[in-house]
Amino acid sequence: MKIAVMPGSFDPITNGHLDVLERALKIFDRIVIALGENPKKEYLFSVEERKRMIREATKGMPIEVDHFSGLLTEFAKKKGAGAIVKGLRAVSDFEYEFQAALMNRKLNPDIETVFVMTRGMYCFLSSSIAKEVASLGGKLNGLVPKHVEKALRNKYR
Ligand code: PNS
Repeated sequence: MKIAVMPGSFDPITNGHLDVLERALKIFDRIVIALGENPKKEYLFSVEERKRMIREATKGMPIEVDHFSGLLTEFAKKKGAGAIVKGLRAVSDFEYEFQAALMNRKLNPDIETVFVMTRGMYCFLSSSIAKEVASLGGKLNGLVPKHVEKALRNKYR
């Protein structure tokens, strides 16, 4: 069984994340969503809220959602994953992702990083920009799942 981890903050999950996930599931049998905390970020949703939104959005998919702290490579090893899946939107993502991929390879040479390109229509989409639009009362049709849009509306009401 080919298992991969897909790390991120998912604050909140967007249709861009789901697009990457669906594409990655053509390569891997099972994906563990590695919900992490980046100390440089402030989160709108709690870990439990983020987990719930991911589970709802990925119902019926061979997905597990788990929270991790510490090194991603250690988490991947614990989960029996041979790969890390990362979504790439634009060249601007590349420099950081390239550095992280090489560091993760140094930390564990048995784990490959696999980059998956998002659909063009999601190139501009991020959780941060979705939050900004929601906070200003804008619509997010087709950019986040319905339940996520509702959760964003509730946060900013
Ligand atoms: O892209 P995000 O939302 O900032 O991701 C958050 C998180 C926690 C998943 C990300 O920062 C991460 O993968 N952290 C792992 C830390 C790690 O293993 N660092 C060493 C190699 S780069």
